[in-house]
Amino acid sequence: MAKDTTGRLHVTVKSGGKRKLSSKLWLERQLNDPYVMQAKRDGYRSRAAYKLREMDDKYHFLKQGQAVVDLGAAPGGWSQIAAKRVGAEAGKGKVIAIDLLEMGEIPGVTFAQLDFLADDAPEKLRAMLGGGADIVMSDMAANTTGHRKTDQLRIVGLVESAAAFAAEVLNPGGVFLAKVFQSGADATLQNELKRNFATVRHVKPAASRQDSSERYVLAMGFRGGA
Ligand SMILES: C[S@@+](CC[C@H](N)C(=O)[O-])C[C@H]1O[C@@H](n2cnc3c(N)ncnc32)[C@H](O)[C@@H]1O
Repeated sequence: MAKDTTGRLHVTVKSGGKRKLSSKLWLERQLNDPYVMQAKRDGYRSRAAYKLREMDDKYHFLKQGQAVVDLGAAPGGWSQIAAKRVGAEAGKGKVIAIDLLEMGEIPGVTFAQLDFLADDAPEKLRAMLGGGADIVMSDMAANTTGHRKTDQLRIVGLVESAAAFAAEVLNPGGVFLAKVFQSGADATLQNELKRNFATVRHVKPAASRQDSSERYVLAMGFRGGA
């Protein structure tokens, strides 16, 4: 095992046989990623947990007793952080989570395997929530096709649907956080968020891979709501 430029051991994976070059590179990146190793040590389901932790450490939007909706929650890193910070583990706040994929149980988190884009998803989520939400957060990423324009439309479509849902369920002062990638939110969505929220900013957490175009839009201080 060789050491990388920072002195850490660097794992190299053999290619050939049935393993394709793309999976060899993916596996190497996972094995050498300090956040993946840290997540294992800290008991988090994913390295993504550090992105939410970092954004909340800076902007302080997760508070005890709040109701949080986590869209695209699997394998569960964000839900783990949210459950801890709102006190859901201790029965104070609540975390409602959905994903296309199954997700193992997390104390304090109510989960449903559901496609957010299905017609009945908002209604099911509202039923699970049983009231307003203080935070709607989405780390959803649509499967990519490799066709840039199609992928871009899918990404924007997911964020717009999440924002529309947030506008329906958020309590006054509520927060919307969503993955948007490099393009940021598109102009229409950006203007709508600016109308609906007191502050709108784009955030690139350090835990987000520097070579990825991943960004988050963080809109705080919802002006609507009951
Ligand atoms: C980057 S992962 C989320 C990681 C998660 N935040 C964590 O901390 O572990 C993105 C997730 O979005 C989910 N997803 C994508 N489109 C979705 C949809 N239409 N409805 C529900 N989940 C979706 C995927 O199945 C995937 O698990």
